[in-house]
Amino acid sequence: MSAKTILITGGAGFIGSHVVREFVLKYPEYHILNLDALTYAGNLSNLTDIEDKDNYEFIKGDIVDLNFINELFIKHEITDVIHLAAESHVDRSILNPLAFIHTNVVGTSNLLHAAKSNWSNTSEHKFYHVSTDEVYGSLSETGYFLETTPYDPRSPYSASKASSDMIVRSFAHTFNLPIVISNCSNNYGPNQFPEKLIPLFISNIIDQKPLPVYGKGENVRDWLYVVDHAKAIDLIFHEGQPGETYNIGGENEWSNIDLIKLLCQKMDTKLGRNKGDSESLITFVKDRAGHDFRYAIDCSKLKKNLDWAPIETFETGIEKTIDWYLGNQQWIEHVKSGAYQEYYSQQYSNR
Ligand code: NAD
Ligand code: DAU
Repeated sequence: MSAKTILITGGAGFIGSHVVREFVLKYPEYHILNLDALTYAGNLSNLTDIEDKDNYEFIKGDIVDLNFINELFIKHEITDVIHLAAESHVDRSILNPLAFIHTNVVGTSNLLHAAKSNWSNTSEHKFYHVSTDEVYGSLSETGYFLETTPYDPRSPYSASKASSDMIVRSFAHTFNLPIVISNCSNNYGPNQFPEKLIPLFISNIIDQKPLPVYGKGENVRDWLYVVDHAKAIDLIFHEGQPGETYNIGGENEWSNIDLIKLLCQKMDTKLGRNKGDSESLITFVKDRAGHDFRYAIDCSKLKKNLDWAPIETFETGIEKTIDWYLGNQQWIEHVKSGAYQEYYSQQYSNR
């Protein structure tokens, strides 16, 4: 019997695949169950390097199906959960909010219900909910999100994540479920679906397609390399205090337009194109509805209490990211082969 059987949900997605890899390789004594519905965002080719490991198992399934989740807990004697499965893209939440309520609110509630029903001695278990800084709302030019910042979600995506955070906390308060939550800033790195800013723009630069900058490109995001997020999740899972929330961030703020120009310059060099070629693709388009102006995380609690620090600088992280996408253009084409074109034209044709 392994010491722990950890259910990682959403492990075929962007962040989940890095979390699964981190746990499978670092903890051979744990049994890692990757549960994923393989929506458009889930892709098992993100995990080919670890799929044959003895302590890894993939299960295809939907967290919205309560009976299935309950049976999974019983059959596999799940001891812990690291929950990442979600609908994760703000623009899609504007096109189809209900999908976000189903997966992010109902799905999370189902997992909590199954954990509560199947864990008799709750102190032996942990339910880790992976959340976002978007629950805190939007900042102006100054200030930072702290763990104590009141929630003020403003998109269907962030409202669904805020709801799920609240439901997770309610299960801790009412049923003594040992939970921990982390709220992280924008991630970037390998395996991110080319609907999010950085992989979308890398893909469009390769194809010499327009780069659709929302509004004036003045919005600000705080970027963290995805493997540093995965390592923070490992640390918080093992050393975080039950019931606590930890903010995770890169202390690395960029306005969109500055970030895009940097990306353009680097891509011109990597692709051997003339200076300015990629920047000429920049196209200012209609702004995102309800576009949050600025996110910036204060992660001093995590740094001070758990001694966390990211390994990558933005300079090293963005180099690795660009090199990965350039070296994996088949991956980009593969994930774009489904309903991507339909989404892309719905999202960008009338802007
Ligand atoms: P993603 O969209 O890349 O991956 C989500 C995964 O969940 C996919 O593999 C998908 O198949 C799976 N999934 C979706 N619905 C499911 C369902 N009903 N049942 C089972 N599996 C389902 O998302 P991501 O960017 O990797 O984000 C992962 C988590 O981290 C999310 O909870 C997100 O809110 C949170 N988060 C993301 C960021 C970011 O910058 N991407 C930052 C902070 C927090
Ligand atoms: O802050 C954490 C969040 O970061 C996560 O919870 C979300 O899952 C993740 O998607 C991300 O949300 P954002 O909306 O910040 O990320 P996105 O990559 O979609 O957009 C980043 C910024 O770039 C944002 O200000 C909108 C802008 N943008 C985005 C796209 C896709 C554009 O200008 N043009 C685009 O085509």
